[in-house]
Amino acid sequence: MTLLVTGCAGFIGSNFVYYYLSKYKDRTIIGLDKLTYAGNLKNLENLSDEQKSRFKFIKGDICNSELVEYIFQEYDIDGVINFAAESHVDRSILDPQIFLKTNILGTQTLLDVAKKYWYKDGRWKEGKKFLQISTDEVYGTLGPTGYFTETTPLAPRSPYSASKASADLIVMAYHETYGMPVNITRCSNNYGPYQFPEKLIPLMITNALEHKELPVYGDGKQIRDWLYVQDHCKAIDLVFEKAKPGQIYNIGGNNERENIFIVKKVIEILREMTNDDEINEGLIKHVKDRPGHDRRYAIDARKIRQELGWEPEVEFEEGLKKTIKWYLENRQWVEEIKSGEYKDWWERNYGRR
Ligand code: NAD
Ligand code: DAU
Repeated sequence: MTLLVTGCAGFIGSNFVYYYLSKYKDRTIIGLDKLTYAGNLKNLENLSDEQKSRFKFIKGDICNSELVEYIFQEYDIDGVINFAAESHVDRSILDPQIFLKTNILGTQTLLDVAKKYWYKDGRWKEGKKFLQISTDEVYGTLGPTGYFTETTPLAPRSPYSASKASADLIVMAYHETYGMPVNITRCSNNYGPYQFPEKLIPLMITNALEHKELPVYGDGKQIRDWLYVQDHCKAIDLVFEKAKPGQIYNIGGNNERENIFIVKKVIEILREMTNDDEINEGLIKHVKDRPGHDRRYAIDARKIRQELGWEPEVEFEEGLKKTIKWYLENRQWVEEIKSGEYKDWWERNYGRR
């Protein structure tokens, strides 16, 4: 079995490569990644030699149909798991176009090439599948109560989530129109190792370590539903292996927290682990809110639990401690990121708040 995993050098993609190659000892991954600011081959350095022999990396863009065709010609691809995306909401507010290009046209390019190689003589080849990694943000925002289910109408509110919702629609259109075997997963906020430090949890960890301000948008009472990245990987594997084509699954850990709670928890654990008293709540700075900021996300994940038997394993505080420990042990990884293009982004995003 050979999988094409796009976005394999990003946060969730790289965690998935480790998970999958450890679980299936006879399977191979072709990893395709453009290595944008968010992609980092160092994320894959800890594969064992044996795992590396079952992993082939190709640098390139999912929008490049010739390259994607070359991959399908060269390797007998059994499945595509599409993690590749521009993934950061704040960046999509400053510069939406690349989000539309990668997230929508890139997905459509992958679908088209897969269809060309998997649909022969009026039939789909056996055992093929396209899995689109989507997000709970496609459903928009919730008030203080209620949950997103798979039938909640799509109501995205940021350029990022609008691009992901559009990709979901085109994926389902290939299923309805051509009978393509597809699935979509829509997960809540992930945290864990290798997450780029522009996202809330790693940003707070890495800033606090440098005694820098911890920018909390608005009142900090927005709610996200946090899931440890390995639990997400486990769910993706289950959907890829077991789900019926055409099905969509929400993924979430029933772990709703206010942003301000997360920031204070990071401070508490980090101070405990480092014995550094300068890491304290005085570093918190409430800054101008994100435009169109979604107030609350909460996932109803009963479908994947009941139909596929998925259960998250990592309790929030345990996952957060593991994550913080990882960032403490990988300061060099962070240093290299923070000295590059990220510096300019920091100025553009936070300089004006
Ligand atoms: P990330 O930004 O860390 O990684 C994205 C990866 O895609 C990077 O390696 C980047 O180089 C690559 N990429 C970007 N454009 C590309 C292109 N045109 N061609 C090939 N590769 C390209 O993102 P992430 O947090 O790992 O998210 C992965 C996927 O999961 C995304 O589709 C995202 O929408 C979805 N998702 C993320 C979360 C989360 O909390 N992080 C939650 C739910 C869903
Ligand atoms: O819900 C799934 C989504 O989660 C994924 O689809 C996205 O790819 C992923 O980036 C994430 O989106 P969010 O916008 O929820 O994540 P982010 O880490 O950017 O922000 C989490 C919350 O923290 C959000 O309410 C905004 C707030 N925040 C974020 C940053 C970066 C702050 O208050 N301060 C900050 O500096």
